[in-house]
Amino acid sequence: MPADAIPHSGCTVDLTGQVALVTGASRGIGRAIAERLAACGATVAAVARSVDGLAGTIEAIRSAGGTAEAFAGSVASSEDVSRIVSEVEAKFEKVHVLVNNAGITKDGLMLRMEDEAFRDVLETNLFGAFYFTRAVGAVMMRQRYGRIVNISSVAGLMGNPGQANYSASKAGLIGFTRTVARELATRNITVNAVAPGFIETDMTDVLPDKVKDVVKDHVPMKKFGQVDDIADLVCYLSGPGARYLTGQVIAVDGGMTA
Ligand SMILES: NC(=O)c1ccc[n+]([C@@H]2O[C@H](COP(=O)([O-])OP(=O)(O)OC[C@H]3O[C@@H](n4cnc5c(N)ncnc54)[C@H](OP(=O)(O)O)[C@@H]3O)[C@@H](O)[C@H]2O)c1
Repeated sequence: MPADAIPHSGCTVDLTGQVALVTGASRGIGRAIAERLAACGATVAAVARSVDGLAGTIEAIRSAGGTAEAFAGSVASSEDVSRIVSEVEAKFEKVHVLVNNAGITKDGLMLRMEDEAFRDVLETNLFGAFYFTRAVGAVMMRQRYGRIVNISSVAGLMGNPGQANYSASKAGLIGFTRTVARELATRNITVNAVAPGFIETDMTDVLPDKVKDVVKDHVPMKKFGQVDDIADLVCYLSGPGARYLTGQVIAVDGGMTA
């Protein structure tokens, strides 16, 4: 980082010399996480379905003095994930931090839900995290160090009508997190899940105002979260301060699940 570059003002975590792979880094929560980890000194491997989609993230990181590279592919494709992890290893040699953030919704009431809507959401949100964790986990095992953060949702902790597919994927991610945390613990690899509540991004923008008002009413803090609320926690979980913290699910939801 050039001497005159100003790291993120809230950055108290030193990730200098570390490589962080962030999926779904083209916008929303993933972009905020990628930018934050880069501001804390990490070299970021940013993943989304297209390089064009990642251009804004890469440009923002580089113009702030950080280092980032775009890797295109679908998290729902085992082949794409293997290729991306090989490319990241070839380019940066190591991977210290993995953030499984890419996710989609295909909402609808369960009785009318098509197979495809259920399968697509599971394949992106849950299989995607599995493919990346398996591939990067092998790299981390060799390094005897790693930090894995899975972005779940409060919908994985409590039911949400219209999201049977999404909540199944996010609850599955929580079970996955706890088991993988136990499997990798002796190798100095921590695995945790963050469960955001309602965060203002493109994903939630599409909801009608009436729905937003109802959700807000259920949030004790009476406001929606921002992408930086999630990035702050992911950054902490990725850093040295979280060395004895593994297998946990932390909700960042303004008290919604309190
Ligand atoms: N926003 C919320 O209130 C909220 C609440 C709880 C949990 N979450 C979770 O937080 C994560 C991020 O949400 P967000 O609100 O930031 O969503 P978003 O704005 O819709 O962004 C989703 C990201 O995922 C990427 N993505 C989607 N499918 C992909 C695939 N098959 N392969 C690679 N990348 C893919 C998208 O990239 P491209 O389209 O460029 O490929 C994009 O970068 C998701 O896992 C979501 O479930 C969000």
